[in-house]
Amino acid sequence: MNNIFYTGQEVDFISFIESKKYESICVLVDAKTNGFCLPILKNVFPSFENVSSIVMPDGEVNKSIEIVQLIWSEMLANSISRNSLIINLGGGVLTDMGGFAASTFKRGVDFLNIPTTLLAMVDASAGGKTGINFGGVKNCIGSFQTSIATYINPIFLNTLSSRQLLNGTVEMIKHALLKSDVAWDAVKNYSLHEFMSIDKIKQSIAIKQFIVEQDFNDNGIRQSLNVGHTIGHAIESYSYQTNTPLLHGEAIILGLIHEQLIAESILNTDSKIRKELIDVKERLFANINFTYTLNNILPYLLQDKKNSSTINMSLLASIANCKIQTVVSIDELKKSFINL
Ligand SMILES: NC(=O)c1ccc[n+]([C@@H]2O[C@H](COP(=O)([O-])OP(=O)(O)OC[C@H]3O[C@@H](n4cnc5c(N)ncnc54)[C@H](O)[C@@H]3O)[C@@H](O)[C@H]2O)c1
Repeated sequence: MNNIFYTGQEVDFISFIESKKYESICVLVDAKTNGFCLPILKNVFPSFENVSSIVMPDGEVNKSIEIVQLIWSEMLANSISRNSLIINLGGGVLTDMGGFAASTFKRGVDFLNIPTTLLAMVDASAGGKTGINFGGVKNCIGSFQTSIATYINPIFLNTLSSRQLLNGTVEMIKHALLKSDVAWDAVKNYSLHEFMSIDKIKQSIAIKQFIVEQDFNDNGIRQSLNVGHTIGHAIESYSYQTNTPLLHGEAIILGLIHEQLIAESILNTDSKIRKELIDVKERLFANINFTYTLNNILPYLLQDKKNSSTINMSLLASIANCKIQTVVSIDELKKSFINL
């Protein structure tokens, strides 16, 4: 795993970068982080005052090969060499895409992530997955490539909308479910303010790191991180076809709840977990009123890259006990809609 530096470790972070003796440093930002986050970065690290920057458009629709080409062109124009450093300053779209662009430019330029959304802090920037969307398939092109370091500072969260903040809480909820009863009992009662604290962010990243370290290439236990995501991704994709597209976390909280119904039926999981998840959803996501049918999500479930002819899910048998690659029949899926 890469080195993670937190608020308070700025001197160590800069010493680490200086020890690499880079020829040049370039910061990749998007339209929003250019305005909101780059000035903060330069304030926290005055030695970055004169670094060059590349600005890309923001948003999931721009997580594309066309924008990667734009980044590569700018890297050429900025004379980025194998001995340069790219700093990805932004949310998960930017860290995924910047990591991909850097790791493929001139056969690989070092990059580090400074995530500026809660989702990117606790999830996207940890774990070494880079990528872009292609042919309508999310994260279709990409690589496993670890950043040389990550710097986490919740100061960047101050300009994020509450909807975007809430979006990041769902991966923290998921991490707690995978960790222990103690973790879940704490997280299910967090206020939004608590989710944003450096200690809680650190704890959440540690859970993901612990899992990723055991299975970097995602062939086994790492798939437990997909809990809630098989149905959640399908709901997210379907929502893009409607007038009320959901953010990733909003879809995943629905997916977590729905998958628990299936787990109750197949694995005899205690319904208490689902009921507690519904309480969390009602407390934090009271505004989500999104409905879907089997027909709405089935096409996406069947093309989900994690599946072949059957639908495989990572399902929670109990807290901290995830059964990966559980085969779910279409009949079982149909049945789950009756109680939804
Ligand atoms: N690599 C992984 O392991 C992994 C894991 C989870 C998610 N992801 C990816 O992460 C992406 C979603 O990330 P996201 O939720 O961070 O979305 P995002 O990167 O699109 O950011 C959301 C919006 O917030 C803006 N923004 C970012 N930081 C800001 C700040 N501090 N203040 C104000 N605005 C700010 C962005 O410009 C964007 O408009 C998806 O593409 C997903 O596939 C990757």
